Amino acid sequence: MPATILIGAQWGDEGKGRVADWLARDSYAMARYAGGDNAGHTVMVGEKQFKLHLTPSGIVQPHVRCILGSGMVINPTRLVQELDMLAGQGVDISPQRIQISTRAHIITPAHMELDGAEERARGGESIGTTRRGIGPAYQDKSARTGLLTGEMADPETFADKVLASVKQANKLLVNYYGLEAMPTDEIAAQACNAAQRLAPYLSETSHSINEMLEVGQRVLCEGAQGTLLDLDHGHYPYLTSSSAVAGGALTGLGFGPHYVDRVVGVAKAYSTRVGNGPFPTELLDDTGDRIRTAGAEFGTTTGRPRRCGWLDVVILHYARRVNGLTELVLTKLDVLSDLDEIKIAVAYELDGRRITQMPLDTAAIARVQPVYETLPGWKIDISSARRLADLPQNARRYVEHVRDLTGLPITMISVGPERDQAVYG
Ligand code: IMP
Repeated sequence: MPATILIGAQWGDEGKGRVADWLARDSYAMARYAGGDNAGHTVMVGEKQFKLHLTPSGIVQPHVRCILGSGMVINPTRLVQELDMLAGQGVDISPQRIQISTRAHIITPAHMELDGAEERARGGESIGTTRRGIGPAYQDKSARTGLLTGEMADPETFADKVLASVKQANKLLVNYYGLEAMPTDEIAAQACNAAQRLAPYLSETSHSINEMLEVGQRVLCEGAQGTLLDLDHGHYPYLTSSSAVAGGALTGLGFGPHYVDRVVGVAKAYSTRVGNGPFPTELLDDTGDRIRTAGAEFGTTTGRPRRCGWLDVVILHYARRVNGLTELVLTKLDVLSDLDEIKIAVAYELDGRRITQMPLDTAAIARVQPVYETLPGWKIDISSARRLADLPQNARRYVEHVRDLTGLPITMISVGPERDQAVYG
């Protein structure tokens, strides 16, 4: 049963990139199954920092084959830029190790422009999207008007179709949104160039993934964003347009559930969120600012400051259920080292009642008040800890308490950004 699914258990940015890098050591292949370049995964290897948006994080390990699955939406120009950046850092980007599904969907410049126009039109009720064109590309996919990655096999026809999508969007931008039309001069040439570069990577990836799984080669399925941003299971409409939960790996890559033996949830030792929407444990005070500064909580993709708050076990229980988590990884424990005391939300008060199940209704979750347990801080630098026994007693107590509250084994704890700054459970 050789498939592992790696999931964000909160609102994304949990540090999945470095966990993927750890799990990739024992994997034959790594496959992204949802989202697009709204994601930002950072992997540190020695002095080198890799900022990935589309390529699976396993790309930095030479033995790992990488797959961009059919559940993704791909901006071809951005993917070419990312591959060039990786090649410049000495990474093998040959088509022998990277496959792009022919059935993923293309993000055109039209989608990006429409993403911005839709957000502006929402005014005070905006979602706070990354403006990478994710929502509009998935809209086209569902409406069956999208452009498949497989079309890049014929770069000139593909470029014509991209140009047609921009001309179509221009009508909307001008006539409906009252904006200026996008210039069309360079678009066809850019699309044609990107398609020429990417055509050698195209493949019917569900066949190759199943062939790997059938002979017992481990496939690591890399989730993007997080459980609470999932289109079906987050708080609508403050979420992304794809299936970020474990089920998304099956549909976004095309294999059966009997192969999955490990579902790894990743949570920060606190919580963060970028963009708008409910966030029960958000800290709008000095403690929130301290966590943001200590954790360098600014978006990899957009540079936006992330909203910061305490760890929320009600959310983690929910993530455990909807994903069938088998274990938990706790990241950035070191960020809390400076605090006198640390809180964990263990329940909510909703309209005078105490509840332990996360309300799915967006208006209800916006009204909850977290019920906290308070633990003492440890006030010691823990970045050189490599074993549980190296952690100060209060840090161990915090980790053990999270383990007991969630009922999940904690298999890795990160204590710094470097690859080796981790404690394994
Ligand atoms: P979109 O995916 O760009 O449409 O953005 C929808 C929501 O998901 C916004 O609140 C974004 O800030 C959030 N989001 C999208 N991708 C990520 C991510 O990789 N990490 C954290 N938040 C994300």
